[in-house]
Amino acid sequence: MSINSTLIAGYLVASGSGLSVLNPATGKEIACVKDWSLADIENAIVVAEPAQKEWAAQPAKTRASILKRWNDLILESQDELATIITSECGKPIAEAKGEAAYGASFVEWFAEEGKRAYGDVIPHHAPGKRLMTIKQPVGVTAAITPWNFPLAMITRKVAPALAAGCAMIVKPAETTPLTALAIESLAHQAGIPQALFRVVTTTDPVSVGKLFCSNAIIRKISFTGSTAVGKILLKQCAGTVKRTSMELGGNAPFIVFDDADIDAAVDGALASKFRNAGQTCVCANRFFVQSSVYHSFVSKLAERVSKIKVGDGAQTETEVGPLINKAGLEKVSRLVEDAVSKGAQAVTGGKRLTIGECFYEPTVLRDVTTEMDILHAEIFGPVAPITKFDTDDEVIALANSTPYGLAAYFYARDISRIWRVMEELEFGMVGINDGIISTEVAPFGGVKESGIGREGGQLGLEEYLEPKYALIGGMMS
Ligand code: SIN
Repeated sequence: MSINSTLIAGYLVASGSGLSVLNPATGKEIACVKDWSLADIENAIVVAEPAQKEWAAQPAKTRASILKRWNDLILESQDELATIITSECGKPIAEAKGEAAYGASFVEWFAEEGKRAYGDVIPHHAPGKRLMTIKQPVGVTAAITPWNFPLAMITRKVAPALAAGCAMIVKPAETTPLTALAIESLAHQAGIPQALFRVVTTTDPVSVGKLFCSNAIIRKISFTGSTAVGKILLKQCAGTVKRTSMELGGNAPFIVFDDADIDAAVDGALASKFRNAGQTCVCANRFFVQSSVYHSFVSKLAERVSKIKVGDGAQTETEVGPLINKAGLEKVSRLVEDAVSKGAQAVTGGKRLTIGECFYEPTVLRDVTTEMDILHAEIFGPVAPITKFDTDDEVIALANSTPYGLAAYFYARDISRIWRVMEELEFGMVGINDGIISTEVAPFGGVKESGIGREGGQLGLEEYLEPKYALIGGMMS
């Protein structure tokens, strides 16, 4: 069944003549959109250059008012956008509406932040000299965005880029181009010039990635996706010494200490683990629970997980939708089989569902050990593997024993323990007594192999600004 939305009507092409988009809940094609040629993409990059210069010359306040119009249009189209998100990415409709609001919040935030791209006057070091820095836009930028937040991961990059005075070309994920096109159409309605922000849809992401990385007009690439692809892009960007922002994979620990409020920890675990069927980079991936509260946490969590309603995200009662595709399902299935074959026990779930080709039961695994692959891989599915620990030192070492360093969570009440653990966790973001940390006002990003740079918050704008230092000599004193 094709999708009926005025936001994307102008982008649709005949089935079989472009990039085919499937609904993961049904496996059926819902739309087909243009497969951009490399020559057309190169042309979009060329026309972005003068458009960027013209945009950067506008007062920040003018840019801000256009961005605010875009924010308003996204919010006015929240329901229509949510339907598109659910149709191509599978997440429940309530979560999709939440994503539209979350995506808009970056546009609103950066519309304001763009007005505060301050430089500095530096106290002079020698007579007759005056020193300052100004902040200038990086120039033409490009973004490669993922399917798990097909809207918010675009606005989290485009909004700061435009607010700073940059242009941006976006290549969305092959599985979720429709939301990207809907967002582009709203941006153009808001008055953002087409040459300044362009979405290029493709069936050949590898070649488009190479083109972005090697093109000298593009001065920065922002990527959200796997660490493996991030490493390839970083190597490819070396040739033109591009700036990069990399929001890569995670392996988030979720630690429950013996002084925690266990019911609150269960609520936090559900929120963190099962958001988008476990398909976010910051989803809790490994649960570590202290021995004395282990049985209580496992049984309370399993009871709640066994009641989660799984189904097509379009049905309002659905709490967990399908995984994005069969490959995602195979991976989750393989990880659970490996864990169970090595001694883990499925307290609830542990199997594929037959309501479609991409559904997996929300699962709680107990008795998980470090020999099992599931503790080392990014699961990207609705499975909570739980390991028992005894001491604070032991769990801090376990949590940090990963090349990833995106998000970590822990539940505790003792303030000195809270402070110490927060400081010792080698992660870019730490949620303490809360399972949801994402917001437009805070810096999102990781350390180690989870990435470079921050998105959102005050730091998010800096990613699109270059400081320029100027010294004026020959002054009177
Ligand atoms: C992600 O999974 O990359 C983003 C998740 C978020 O913004 O909360």
